[in-house]
Amino acid sequence: MNNQMISAVPPMGWNSWNTFYDKINDELVRSMADTMVEQGLLDAGYNYLILDDGWQARQRDSRGHLMADPEKFPHGIKEVVDYVHSKGLKMGIYSCCGTHTCGGYPGSFEHEFSDAQQFADWGIDYLKYDNCYRPGSTATNILYRRISMALRSTGRDILLAACQWGTEDVHQWIRSSGAHTFRSTIDIQDAWNSIQKIASSQINLQGYNGPDCFNDMDMLVVGMYGKGLNPETSIGGCTDEEYQTHFALWAMMNSPLIIGCDMREMTDATKKILLNKEVIALNQDPGVHSCYSLPVYGNPDVFVLVKPLANGDYAIAFFNFGDTKAKAVLNFWDMGLSASAGYAFEFRDCISHEDLGLQKEFFAPVVSAHGCKVYRCRLAKNCK
Ligand code: GLA
Repeated sequence: MNNQMISAVPPMGWNSWNTFYDKINDELVRSMADTMVEQGLLDAGYNYLILDDGWQARQRDSRGHLMADPEKFPHGIKEVVDYVHSKGLKMGIYSCCGTHTCGGYPGSFEHEFSDAQQFADWGIDYLKYDNCYRPGSTATNILYRRISMALRSTGRDILLAACQWGTEDVHQWIRSSGAHTFRSTIDIQDAWNSIQKIASSQINLQGYNGPDCFNDMDMLVVGMYGKGLNPETSIGGCTDEEYQTHFALWAMMNSPLIIGCDMREMTDATKKILLNKEVIALNQDPGVHSCYSLPVYGNPDVFVLVKPLANGDYAIAFFNFGDTKAKAVLNFWDMGLSASAGYAFEFRDCISHEDLGLQKEFFAPVVSAHGCKVYRCRLAKNCK
């Protein structure tokens, strides 16, 4: 282990579950790795390629080791990992703290140390660790501490993504287990109300989010448009506006940015959202401050998220969960800025990439239904 944080900022990558369910194989992983490089996703920061549930054979081998499904992965996992690494990407894999995974494949319960060693031997860099089929007598926090210890015992830097769905007040104890991210909600669906519900449920938990242990609001559904082989996720689809809002929420709330669509079929609108370097920079900001939320007076569907950035700027994002467009007023007073201080904010629109000049005392954009506005704002002397 290299004695540094494994996840100083939220991890970014792609995960197979949202679109491919357990219909995954060697060829798919290789073509996704190629796509991540060719489409500029790796350059934009998406560096983990994560194989979710369904890579395993239904039984362990005679020595008790996990095996890859021989039809899906005829050359085994190590070869796939080597290919992914050869593209400059990191490789993630999935297991579960129970006797079985959520998809019914063998789980890691009481195999934790040997499975961790096997993952390390394959060159795995990221383990998503789920919470199904846990023997009732064993406390969850013990099992997350145990897999964390098992991964550490290998000496390899492996990011531990705890997938515990936000139950049992996970935000309060997960950081001390050594996990680097924690799933804080049940599974996302490709639908506006799922995005809205997840974001609303996490706004008041931002204080638990920080370097090397991030609140994972689940994989992105941006660009899925209701497609895919996962009947649990693909239930309708969203508009591009809603996908933009989803991405901005996850970025502002320091969630991992893990793509879930078929990256080989990204539309121009999807690429514009997922590859927007100005929005990504807010999520990956080295200051790693949490955001706080401010209500907008008179409209409960509209709110503002504010995140202080490392260079002294502020990320300020306006969200409208309502079904009609709305004016969202932010008084800088509520951010701590008194008029007498002699400062104003220079606004830069991170989605249209325009500079909007100096804004004094307040800012009040009109935000479309289910839409957002995202700005990077620099404190500047207010020369009246
Ligand atoms: C759970 C997790 C999902 C996915 C599936 C796999 O539902 O929350 O993200 O990993 O299991 O079976």
